[in-house]
Amino acid sequence: MKTESNISPTTKNLESGNEVLSIKNVFKSFGDNHVLSGLNLTLHKKENLVVLGRSGSGKSVLIKCVIGLIPIESGIIKVFGNDVTSLTRKQLDEMRTKVGFVFQGNALYDSMTVKENLEFALKRLVKNISRKNIEMLVDEMLENVSLPLTKNIMPAELSGGMKKRIGLARTLIMKPEIMLYDEPTTGLDPVTSKEISNLILNIQDKYQTSSMIITHDISCAKITSNKIITLINGINYAEGSYEELTRSEDPLVKAFFK
Ligand SMILES: Nc1ncnc2c1ncn2[C@@H]1O[C@H](COP(=O)(O)OP(=O)(O)O)[C@@H](O)[C@H]1O
Ligand SMILES: [Mg+2]
Repeated sequence: MKTESNISPTTKNLESGNEVLSIKNVFKSFGDNHVLSGLNLTLHKKENLVVLGRSGSGKSVLIKCVIGLIPIESGIIKVFGNDVTSLTRKQLDEMRTKVGFVFQGNALYDSMTVKENLEFALKRLVKNISRKNIEMLVDEMLENVSLPLTKNIMPAELSGGMKKRIGLARTLIMKPEIMLYDEPTTGLDPVTSKEISNLILNIQDKYQTSSMIITHDISCAKITSNKIITLINGINYAEGSYEELTRSEDPLVKAFFK
């Protein structure tokens, strides 16, 4: 695969059935700080996979490795069957249009209205898209996140929960096949966290996306997950459904449920 020059990172390159993302034996350190130490995980089509890890456990590093923002030391990360490290710049850009990244801090453009934030990637990445299509997509996305009347509002005027919703809508507008969420509920009150978690579920259902949700929020994990992987000491320490993990006798796993 590495020798082919014309790989299009699409689902047709899937190796085994319904794997959209596979991470095999990945290592990543910063000096003496060994963050990922042989991590393995697989995200299947239409799955909501939660990676549960404490603060500083390497969750953001992991997500950045997946989209090629941080180089890994060893191991293999495949997205739609293609080795991320072997993609050319162009192929990486193409892959990124199919992999939506919802940043921990929303990363909205403060000087743009909500509508301009939502349109930004469409205008830049989708060739020859009509005004009317952009308008329709913006409306559809604002409808999805239950904020239909916010088009002309500036991000500074939005509450924390609304910013998360707009951040989500801005990623979803590209209709990605994979959604990567970095701490989608951090900094929100419990009620708003629950709303955002349910929204993640609704979006998965409506657009049939595959999602990797990276969090330390156990209630978000409970609501959103089909499967949970605990990221402890740089590895996929324990895996299972929420119910299975609640029954674990391992102290490191139990610590999440306290
Ligand atoms: N660019 C970087 N350079 C050096 N160390 C980093 C860098 N990014 C993250 N780290 C370190 O990697 C570890 C994991 O960070 P991170 O993935 O952000 O944790 P979290 O699980 O809270 O998202 C931390 O110890 C952090 O200091
Ligand atoms: Mg983080």
